[in-house]
Amino acid sequence: MDKIIIHGGRKLRGKLNISGSKNAALPILIATLLTNEDCEVKNVPSLADIDTTIALLKHINKNVERHGSKIRISSNAHLKHTAPYELVKKMRASVLVMGPILARLGEVSVSLPGGCAIGARPIDIHLDGFEKLGANISLRGGYIQVKAEKLKGARIVFKYPSVGATENLLLASVLARGKTIIDNAAREPEIVDLARVLIKMGAKIRGAGSKKIVVEGVKKLNGFAHEIIPDRIETATYLIAGAITKGNVVLKKAEGNLLKAVIRKLRESGMKIIVNNNTINAVYTKTLKPVNIKTGVYPRFPTDVQAQWMALMSVTKGKSIIEETVFESRFSHVGELQRLGANIELKGNRALIKGVERLSGAPIMISDLRAGAALVLAALVAGGKKTTISRVYHLDRGYEHLEVKLRELGAKIRRIK
Ligand code: EPZ
Repeated sequence: MDKIIIHGGRKLRGKLNISGSKNAALPILIATLLTNEDCEVKNVPSLADIDTTIALLKHINKNVERHGSKIRISSNAHLKHTAPYELVKKMRASVLVMGPILARLGEVSVSLPGGCAIGARPIDIHLDGFEKLGANISLRGGYIQVKAEKLKGARIVFKYPSVGATENLLLASVLARGKTIIDNAAREPEIVDLARVLIKMGAKIRGAGSKKIVVEGVKKLNGFAHEIIPDRIETATYLIAGAITKGNVVLKKAEGNLLKAVIRKLRESGMKIIVNNNTINAVYTKTLKPVNIKTGVYPRFPTDVQAQWMALMSVTKGKSIIEETVFESRFSHVGELQRLGANIELKGNRALIKGVERLSGAPIMISDLRAGAALVLAALVAGGKKTTISRVYHLDRGYEHLEVKLRELGAKIRRIK
């Protein structure tokens, strides 16, 4: 397995291009299951999760051709209605195939997604929604079987604004008979991008991006061409990289409007952030102040940036508190940050951080995608000997060419087989 070696202490300076959003690309690629016509998706990042999604689409009988960041999808035979364990266990978002396959074939069976490092991650909200649309759910041999003669529109009230459940129910209701209302829907930009694609395909959707989404079912959906929005989590990660190394980074093909909560907190901490139409410049001009964050559903501070913020606060003089409200145990990065010398105390879903003068390099291990990003950020400023990071495959799931992009900004980083 590959490792990444980082020699800390370099200020990051320079420009880089932000890639397309992983969490928009996944549901949009899966939305191609709703039509037999040709679809073209542009600005798709090259990530392990995208490869898994492509494998899944091929398994379900789609032709998929990839040309750089452009993916062309067409149909070659009737759809299959199963998503196998070996693919679902690699990527929880595979459960998003339930909506489109149920809508088109009336039955779907998907392996129960395993939990992962950030919690149990059930899909009860997804399944309740399918039942409201008239489906029957059964569990057999670790597979969830969902069956429905014909999906019928209904009013669905989510107990929690789940991103995946909102996407899954959008993907199912666009071909259901009649009107569906999703109340307490998630508002993430990736849901808005998915709705843009579904509307291009001929779906009738109002209110995507708000708490209440209304869908009028249609009979058939057509092909589409679409360019994925920039990845707001990757953007946040590189802004924080600029902050933690006291540098000056310019992120191109980025969209500041997608991460206002993060930009607000960086400014509060003392970073100078200049947002133009598709670039964001982060400039370190003075000693940063500790700033508390509490994660929440969009548009609040994203849980996917919590670990990266903790890395920054670990070396910011003073006390700060991080409260994680979205996942029940998303602090796997704390132990590894402590190995680098961070002073962090965990109390339930809160982390109390006391900024230290400097972290020191050590061998560390990654457990989940965003925790990995936090450890890379910490390693960029760890003094003393180098930091060797193992299990970097977690990073490949969500960060396109991470070590290349950081090297372009002047980091002393290399990847070894
Ligand atoms: C999406 O996951 C993202 N993944 C996650 O990003 C992100 O952390 C998360 O939304 C929250 O913003 C993709 O978009 C592919 P949820 P998802 O359903 O849809 C509970 C990354 O690093 N819940 O909003 O799985 C769940 O346990 C990944 O890119 C239920 O209880 O998130 C969790 O505590 C990590 N029942 C909370 O809701 C359900 O049926 C948020 O989950 C569904 C969710």
